[in-house]
Amino acid sequence: MRGMVIGAVGIVHVFLAQFAIGGGMLLTYLQWRAGRGDALARRFIGSFFKYLVLVSFVAGALTGVAMWFTTIQVGPRTIGLMIDEFHWLWATEWVFFFVEVIAGYTFLRVGDRLSDPLRLRLLALYTGAAIGSLFWINGILAWQLTPGDWVRTHDLWAGFWNASFWPSLGYRLAVSATLAALAAILVVGTLELARAERHRLVTMIARLMLPMIAMPVLGAWYLAVIPDDSRRWLTGGSVAMSMFLAIAAGATGLIGAYAVVGLVWKRLYASGATAMLLLTLAFAATAAGEFVREGARKPYTVRGVLYSNSIAPDEVARLRVVGSVANDPYPLRDAARYPTAQLALGARVYRAQCSACHTLTGANAVVHLVTGWTADQRRMNIAQLQRTKGFMPPFAGTPTELEALVQLLTWEERGAPAAWPELDDPAVRARIAAWLDEAGPDAAPAVRE
Ligand code: HEC
Repeated sequence: MRGMVIGAVGIVHVFLAQFAIGGGMLLTYLQWRAGRGDALARRFIGSFFKYLVLVSFVAGALTGVAMWFTTIQVGPRTIGLMIDEFHWLWATEWVFFFVEVIAGYTFLRVGDRLSDPLRLRLLALYTGAAIGSLFWINGILAWQLTPGDWVRTHDLWAGFWNASFWPSLGYRLAVSATLAALAAILVVGTLELARAERHRLVTMIARLMLPMIAMPVLGAWYLAVIPDDSRRWLTGGSVAMSMFLAIAAGATGLIGAYAVVGLVWKRLYASGATAMLLLTLAFAATAAGEFVREGARKPYTVRGVLYSNSIAPDEVARLRVVGSVANDPYPLRDAARYPTAQLALGARVYRAQCSACHTLTGANAVVHLVTGWTADQRRMNIAQLQRTKGFMPPFAGTPTELEALVQLLTWEERGAPAAWPELDDPAVRARIAAWLDEAGPDAAPAVRE
């Protein structure tokens, strides 16, 4: 559930922020044409497309701040690690963003009074800074999935220039240009222009979508460099992930075919309604693509270094002895709900180890997933969580904690009755301990570094 909140904010942010970058590219291109005497291009810059870029970039900045708030809530340890490692790169990114803000605002306020060469330089500065800001953040995001040699050396640049850096940067730039072009065509539909002029404008703008030709190669390159197990899940191993990948690829393919063949090559006209439809497809592709990229990291938030539940791989063995919630200082939100201490312990264990990816009874609910399993089946499959599904981290608690979790699941499944027996059977704990030992404290072999 928490993941979904981040996901929703993140997708809107990515969409807006990429649009703001592409908007800069388009405005720069149109200004270049305006400087060479294209009056239509000049009119379009002066129309509200300029404001659209500004709005998206203000909203993009706001959702960016929202991302900080939500991710810090959900994965403070991941964010902490990222800031520890990359604070200077982040600071650099913010400098670029600052330049982007100043340049964009200056263009809005005084752009009309500047000469063409100055306007061009200002827009180029805005665009360059926007691309630069993506450049820095892209390295950090790509590092999460493919940290490469950084895992051993902790060398900043080895982490930054990681295997998926270039394909994801290239892909995002092509997406940025496409989003802006589609939004611009939408705006063209609203302008009071003769049909022939509108058509010329659409054809001019559509050129910005030409980089889409490179997207299949960039996508394939990305898939080739991500870890084997991630790739397997995306290409059949996980039905949900594979479907989302298919949606992203399919929607992108449709937009690309229409843009390149229809608009650029055949010079067809696109109405505002068509642009709206394509933009909606583009949003679906962005959402599906981000979902796939985030999902491909499981069971890690930083591959090989930190699991999604904020437990580090080398801590699992110790937590199996001392317990995963022994040092958990936070009270349960609705502590009075649990009739026994064992159930309350189970709720803490669930919160610490499972809640990053599951709910208890809502979406991807553990209670629903174990429905129909016997008590021992629940114990074994949770004790061997990394074998149950390779994209889950190993269980990182004591047999007592695991039994408390199993009791909690059964109690919730029965509708949370007011009375519930506390079960503490040494024979059960011994069985759980044996299953834990059998699976070992490491991630599934396929996802180990
Ligand atoms: C990294 C994210 C993640 C974490 C952490 C995680 N899970 Fe899962 N788990 C998943 C996903 C994704 C599925 C697949 C759901 C599906 O198939 O619909 C899953 C499936 C399951 C299933 C069903 C397995 C099957 O084969 O039918 C169970 C049971 C389960 N999880 C229990 C747990 C428990 C208990 C915890 C905490 C100790 C936990 N999970 C922690 C992501 C996670």
